[in-house]
Amino acid sequence: MPRFSDEFLQELRARCDIEQIISGYVQLRRRGKNLVGLCPFHNEKTPSFTVYPENQSYYCFGCGAGGEVINFIRRIENLDYVEAVRFLCDRAGIMMPLDGADDSMALKRRRIYEMNREAARFFHDTLLSPAGEAGLNYYKSRGYSKRTITKFGLGYAPNSWNALRDHLREKGYSYEEQFEANLLQRSVKSDRTSYYDNFRGRVIVPIIDVRGNVVAFGGRVLDDSKPKYINTADTPVYKKSLGVFGLNFAKNSKEKTLILVEGYMDAISLHQAGFDNAIACLGTALTGEMARLLMRYADEVLLCYDADEAGQKATQKAIAIFSSIGAKQRVIRLSGGKDPDEILRKYGPERFRSLIEGASNEIEFKLLRARDGLDLHTDDGRLKYLNLAAEVLADVNNAIAVDIYVSRLSEKLEVDKQAILSRLELIRKRKRSQSRKAAFQTVQKSFSADAGRAAAAGSSLRGRKAQKRVLTLLCGNPDFLPELRSRQAETLFDDPLCRRIYEVLAARIESGGSLDFTALSGELSREEMDLLVGECQKDKALPGSRQELHDCIETLQSEKKKQQSKNTQASALEGDDFRALFRPNDKK
Ligand code: CTP
Ligand code: MN
Repeated sequence: MPRFSDEFLQELRARCDIEQIISGYVQLRRRGKNLVGLCPFHNEKTPSFTVYPENQSYYCFGCGAGGEVINFIRRIENLDYVEAVRFLCDRAGIMMPLDGADDSMALKRRRIYEMNREAARFFHDTLLSPAGEAGLNYYKSRGYSKRTITKFGLGYAPNSWNALRDHLREKGYSYEEQFEANLLQRSVKSDRTSYYDNFRGRVIVPIIDVRGNVVAFGGRVLDDSKPKYINTADTPVYKKSLGVFGLNFAKNSKEKTLILVEGYMDAISLHQAGFDNAIACLGTALTGEMARLLMRYADEVLLCYDADEAGQKATQKAIAIFSSIGAKQRVIRLSGGKDPDEILRKYGPERFRSLIEGASNEIEFKLLRARDGLDLHTDDGRLKYLNLAAEVLADVNNAIAVDIYVSRLSEKLEVDKQAILSRLELIRKRKRSQSRKAAFQTVQKSFSADAGRAAAAGSSLRGRKAQKRVLTLLCGNPDFLPELRSRQAETLFDDPLCRRIYEVLAARIESGGSLDFTALSGELSREEMDLLVGECQKDKALPGSRQELHDCIETLQSEKKKQQSKNTQASALEGDDFRALFRPNDKK
């Protein structure tokens, strides 16, 4: 377990004020002593993410994510513990102690970065060798220049089961390491395990992160066979849902916008044509976390998904996500080709530039979508369009914008403006009541999820409540520990999460360590931290007495007894069933 001294962590905590750090990622508003904002870890429209300056913690009532500053950085920057500490040290200008930190995870990641770089070099060299002829011809057929190939480090994986494997082995990387980087596949047959190259007979696009590390690869077949693309799965250095292609170049662009396209081949073509702010996301579904990451590098995003129905649906989802984080956005509607690559090849860069200039804002995009397939010359078509358009405008909060669009609609459809406005008001009312209902259901769901986990662990809700309360009591009163020890409390926890937290707390108290969240952050997993911080926030107002501790222990003991008698009943039943199996034989 990585471990820094409590003194060091205290200093870190003092120098990295949680309010300041989180403000860099989330827009916070003051609410009483605390601050609230939209949770960066799940998509939401009303803020349930709360920052507590008082004890330097945060907690989201929507998704249950909680913790302190180190664990916040881990989550949002996708770093491991030691890296997150280093990140904060760099920010605050404190020296990170060299000893005391277990760097094994960081070491492993460094190895994978180096190995990936070596693999990228191998693929690139192969492309330029006689063995890469097929790959080079493929790139040429797509119109990629020599310069583009070098700039993006494009490569070719020979059609071999072991070319990369043997090359990397020679460079000192074991098969297991290569497997962990998802460069190899593994096949396990009864008595032997074999490894073989993951990328074979494909052109290779290295995925490079903003820091310049090779984090993953994409490989495309040269013909029409399936699957068209193979991509690196999640590894210790790569989380696909946060994977972006091209950001290492786009972040240096003079443009204040990012052009977001579906495929990395599209992004490469755009760069070659001079659009150096193009990027492609690699995750299957865009998330708020991803969107937030992108908006650190630009003021506005230009969505440019494929022209097909799937691309348009994805655009609608992306709009919702970028809106939820308050990002500025516009939509490029492609015409004359299915994706940017095709349009560039068919018509050249000027056409694409004019498409950018004609990009519509999100409201215009939605109104255009609503009109798709409707004939506005018929009453029926106009009525349908009016209803769909009103649904779109009902979500717009900017009164001036609404007024403009309503006026335009009224002119275009020859309908009284006032009639459209009252229709809008009606829809808004309905939406408000729906969102109240949804909020209520969320609360209910989280309650039943808790019950579900309790049932899975075999414990009752009453038992789980008592276990969690013991933890918050102990946090507030470390001197309760001897009592818990003497009653062998560890045997009373049947929820594994609670038991682990209890053991960590107990060990820290016994070794004289601090119990503040920053100190605990290195020893508790995310899930454990979520639970503990959440419970502590909920119970904060409760004083906590020895009497209450006794009550909790009593509850746990009686729950345990109940559980045991249930178990004996259950095994007795099994015995009966077992006998039943033999009954037919008895007759003989
Ligand atoms: N993709 C994938 N697996 C597939 C198909 C697509 O991972 N079987 C991903 C790839 O990241 C790809 C993106 O989805 O870059 C877009 O897919 P598609 O539109 O099919 O790719 P294009 O960029 O049009 O590819 P190409 O021009 O090479 O046909
Ligand atoms: Mn394409």
